[in-house]
Amino acid sequence: MAEARRVLRLIGVAAAALTTVGIAATAYTANADQSSPSSGVQPMIIGGEETTVEENPFVVALTTPDGFQFCGGTIVAPTKVLTAAHCTDGQAASDIRVVAGRTSLSAGGGTTANVTDIWIHPDWDADKLTHDASVLTLDTSLTEAPLALASPDDADLYAAGANSTVLGWGVTESGSASDTLRKVDVPVTADDACAASYTDSFDAATMVCAGLEEGGKDSCQGDSGGPLVGVAADGTRKLIGIVSWGQGCAEPKFYGVYGRVSAFYDALQGQIG
Ligand code: ARG
Repeated sequence: MAEARRVLRLIGVAAAALTTVGIAATAYTANADQSSPSSGVQPMIIGGEETTVEENPFVVALTTPDGFQFCGGTIVAPTKVLTAAHCTDGQAASDIRVVAGRTSLSAGGGTTANVTDIWIHPDWDADKLTHDASVLTLDTSLTEAPLALASPDDADLYAAGANSTVLGWGVTESGSASDTLRKVDVPVTADDACAASYTDSFDAATMVCAGLEEGGKDSCQGDSGGPLVGVAADGTRKLIGIVSWGQGCAEPKFYGVYGRVSAFYDALQGQIG
């Protein structure tokens, strides 16, 4: 798995390089190659369907200044967006735009905010991919309703089999990124099942997995940083995960791995205020 981790890290670095579509395509190919021995399932958000920002107002796209989407994020306060550390590591705030309120990226509309500050979790480890969380401060107050963070009191949202939904503009079954926001429902995976699939790499203290044992539904390249949303018993939606990594996309037993938001709750509250 050391090799797998190295490749995964390169993918993260490539995704964060924010330069061209070519780089994203290269990263996707690298990932697909890496996973090709285990199954013929095609990377796709995979196995999902189109949705809208009206239904999910908290979802944002991170783009380069010229509009290339490279990651997702979640509005957690009017001027704060939570994303993955591997999306922002090594970047300048001036390299990143946050696009809110836009379902179809090519359609225009919504709000484009500049980033004035990048906070990365102090325990982020780019080799192990632990603590994959970053908070962007915006120059604009967004009007979309923020999504609440799951806290250590929300253990039920992390129970094996709990319903969750992941959202993004990342790679679909077609093999390329989506212009339209997509979603897919995936059950939360038991920590021991995920640890069995990702020996040495899965860290239950800072990660949570979601997906189907048989594969077919997952996040994928370009979805990184975006939200994995759980639903509490009272119907309230909460952010439980941040799209982080996986071996391939939607492969049997190779679940999507997400930053475990409840584990970062105190550090995040300190940033969000
Ligand atoms: N690291 C990817 C990105 O930068 C996300 C990969 C998610 N993979 C998965 N199988 N769920 O976009």
